[in-house]
Amino acid sequence: MRDIIIAGNWKMNKDALQTAEFCRELKSRLSDVKAEHLRVIVAPAFVLLPVAKGALEGSRIEVSAQDVSSQAQGAFTGEVSAQMLASLQVAYAIVGHSERRQYHAESNELVRDKVQMLLQHQITPIMCIGETLAEREAGETEAVLESQLAGCFDGIELQTGKELVIAYEPVWAIGTGKTATSDQAQQAHAFIRNWLRGRFGAEIAANMSILYGGSMKPENCEELISQADIDGGLIGGASLKADDFVAMVHTGISALSKGK
Ligand code: 13P
Repeated sequence: MRDIIIAGNWKMNKDALQTAEFCRELKSRLSDVKAEHLRVIVAPAFVLLPVAKGALEGSRIEVSAQDVSSQAQGAFTGEVSAQMLASLQVAYAIVGHSERRQYHAESNELVRDKVQMLLQHQITPIMCIGETLAEREAGETEAVLESQLAGCFDGIELQTGKELVIAYEPVWAIGTGKTATSDQAQQAHAFIRNWLRGRFGAEIAANMSILYGGSMKPENCEELISQADIDGGLIGGASLKADDFVAMVHTGISALSKGK
């Protein structure tokens, strides 16, 4: 059975006080959540990971970094290594987000190196892929996904499929208020899972959670998560509001109770 994951990517939002307060609120509002196969994750800025960890201690909510260096250590000013994240018991790191690809020219090859580094430190990569509007309109969505998957997984071996999470984030839906329809999203997710089956085999493909990201909010979350190959969300804007985030966690729980 696959896990449903509700993950908040806070991007460059929330300072130390806001992070601590928000995490304490989530901890208390989600304290009675017992569902198995549900993972709840928040991804604050690097510098606030210890603040979030501290405020969430004793809760089931886990913490993710938003990036990681592809290098192990050394003279790389400003970078944060997988070893550093592991030393803080950070369980996840987002890699390949379209904002990193766009503003920092990150390539699939670099994303692959980051994935490798994370896996070596038993940190779960949340690997982001997705097409731009121009690519979708040119009918290139599947070709783009295929080349991102091939590049980001080049030389990567997996054991179970649970040690890595994919987030399908169509770039045109991120922060725009435009959500992919559930059909569009399901089609892309099914394509991704099928690709995984070919590359890693049926069991790993069936085990891996594939999240949708791009203007997910309480109003569209249920419909998206009810799709066969959509196993949760990587949520930006709506994850910054406690009411919305908590509502989406409950949507995940109710999807599980319906046999997802
Ligand atoms: P929005 O939910 O704000 O569209 O952001 C999605 C995203 O980029 C999550 O990583």
